[in-house]
Order: sequence, then structure tokens, then C-alpha cells
Amino acid sequence: MGIRRGEGMMLSIDLSGQSAVVTGGGAGIGYAIAAALAEAGAAVTLADISPDGEAKARHLQEQGGTAQFVLGDAASEEDALRAAEAAVNAYGGIDILVNNAGIYPRGGLLDTTAEVWDRVMEINLRSMFLCCKAVIPHMQQRGRGAIVNLGSSHAAVGLPELLAYSVSKGGVATLTRNLAGAHARDRIRVNCVNPGWVLTEKEQAEREAAGQSADWVRERGRALPLGRLQTGRDAANAVLFLVSSFADQITGQILNVDGGKEVASVFDDSAGSDSKEET
Ligand SMILES: NC(=O)c1ccc[n+]([C@@H]2O[C@H](COP(=O)([O-])OP(=O)(O)OC[C@H]3O[C@@H](n4cnc5c(N)ncnc54)[C@H](O)[C@@H]3O)[C@@H](O)[C@H]2O)c1
Repeated sequence: MGIRRGEGMMLSIDLSGQSAVVTGGGAGIGYAIAAALAEAGAAVTLADISPDGEAKARHLQEQGGTAQFVLGDAASEEDALRAAEAAVNAYGGIDILVNNAGIYPRGGLLDTTAEVWDRVMEINLRSMFLCCKAVIPHMQQRGRGAIVNLGSSHAAVGLPELLAYSVSKGGVATLTRNLAGAHARDRIRVNCVNPGWVLTEKEQAEREAAGQSADWVRERGRALPLGRLQTGRDAANAVLFLVSSFADQITGQILNVDGGKEVASVFDDSAGSDSKEET
């Protein structure tokens, strides 16, 4: 077979006819993922605990995408089932689930309350368990499915000042591998994307509250091995790949989208010295 140049479109990702649910899809990385999926032709259900997501779904519709908003807490069994039902009712089934909702309150062992610990585990981990439970039966009916969980490199490293967060993301990595093994024969693939450091509005507000200026943050970005902070779109591109047919034989994997930080910090102290600040 010859190589036909100039036909790059043959390699584009087309998710037309597919239905996707994105938890925490109303802001930050989740919205970037929802927008990328809609751009690729999927009908997207944005599930978010904040009513602001309604306007984001409307914006996607105005841009020519197919999207709806469902208000609810992804860590509530009832709300997770409701989001799945809304996707099935509106779009006839579910092909893609992106478990993105998450929070990252700072705190080490002695300054993390039991309440904060429980809430982090609920939103970051229990929500993924419940949403998978709500969605997988629909994927089994379809005979296929792709799930992407949002993790963090802190799953492996476990920063002291992000104790609950790091532990919850360790759980996300285990959940990913376990479900990938359990559901491969259902043709349901389960993978995980670890974004690097993405300056969402919330993250930026937290930096400012901690007295860290936009310049300080930009400087941290320049110190990273590939020279900048990551964006929501960087994470969304990895999600697009993993839910596409290009990744048909990939399951149970964790994909770092961190600008090379994890590998370079082994050799280069300047790349790792600011790692305490990210999520
Ligand atoms: N920002 C980063 O640098 C970074 C790095 C690594 C991993 N992550 C992970 O990426 C994911 C998204 O993070 P982000 O930075 O975009 O966060 P964000 O705070 O900017 O946005 C999170 C969205 O989730 C929603 N949400 C929160 N709790 C919810 C719940 N219980 N049910 C439904 N929706 C809920 C919020 O309303 C918001 O719309 C998280 O899982 C986070 O741990 C982020």
C-alpha cells in the first residue's frame, strides 16, 4: 500500500453518533474535554454540581455541538444514575464516560480534618465508582465503551501537603486497572489521564489566595521540561485519543500529560523543585 500524502483528514477522530458523559464538565479541564468531544462529533452530557455548567452546555450548542447539562453531585448514587439516564434518554445510550470531577484541598496529616478527608474520597473516588456502576450496564448493552478517569502523578508520589488528594488518586489508578481487567471482555476499555499542572480558573484563584502571582505561576511553567504549564486542551487531546478507535487495543493504562516533568525530574532538580505546588 502506498502512502498518500495530503490526506491528513483520514487520521482525524470522528465520534459522530457516540454519546459521552463528562462529570465536572462545567468548568476547567472537564469543560475542555466536553468541548473537544463535542468538536469531534459526540453528543455530550455535562454533569456538574455547579449550575454554571448549564451556560457551558448552551455555549457548546451555539457552537454547533450537541450537548445537554445535568445538575448533580457525581458522588451521589442517585445523581450518578440520573446523569446516565439523561444521556440514554437524550442520545440513545452511552459510549464514553469521562470521570473528571475532583477537588484538591491542600492539607497534610495533621491539618486535614476527617470531614475534608471524607469529602475528597467521595468526590475524587466514590464518584468514579458510582458513575462506572451507573454507566457500564449501558455500555454492556452496546457491546463496547471507553472510560477515561482523571488521575494525577501524585498517585505515585504522594505529596505531603496533598495527602487526601494523593491517596484518592492512588485509588483512581487502582480502580482504572481493576475495571480494565474486569470489563475487557465486554469490549469496555478503561484508561486514566494524569494532567500535569493546568491553571484552571479555580487553580488560579487558589494560587492568588496563597499569594502566588500570575508571574510566579508562569515562571513555574517555564521551568518545566517542555517549557510551559499544561492546558485543559492538552488533557482533552489525550482523552480524545484514548476514547477513539486509534486506542482500540489500549486498556488499563495511565497516560501522563505533564510536559516531561516526571521523567526529567529524575535528572534535573530545577524541574522537580516546584512540584509541591501543583495538583
Ligand atoms: N488542574 C490541575 O492542574 C490538575 C492536575 C492533575 C489532575 N487534575 C484533575 O483533573 C480533574 C479536573 O480538575 P480541574 O482542575 O479542572 O478542577 P476545577 O475545579 O477547575 O473544575 C472541576 C469541576 O468539577 C465540578 N465538580 C466538583 N465537585 C463535583 C461533584 N461532586 N460532582 C460533579 N461535579 C463536581 C466543579 O463544579 C467544576 O465544574 C480533577 O479530577 C483533578 O484532580 C487537575
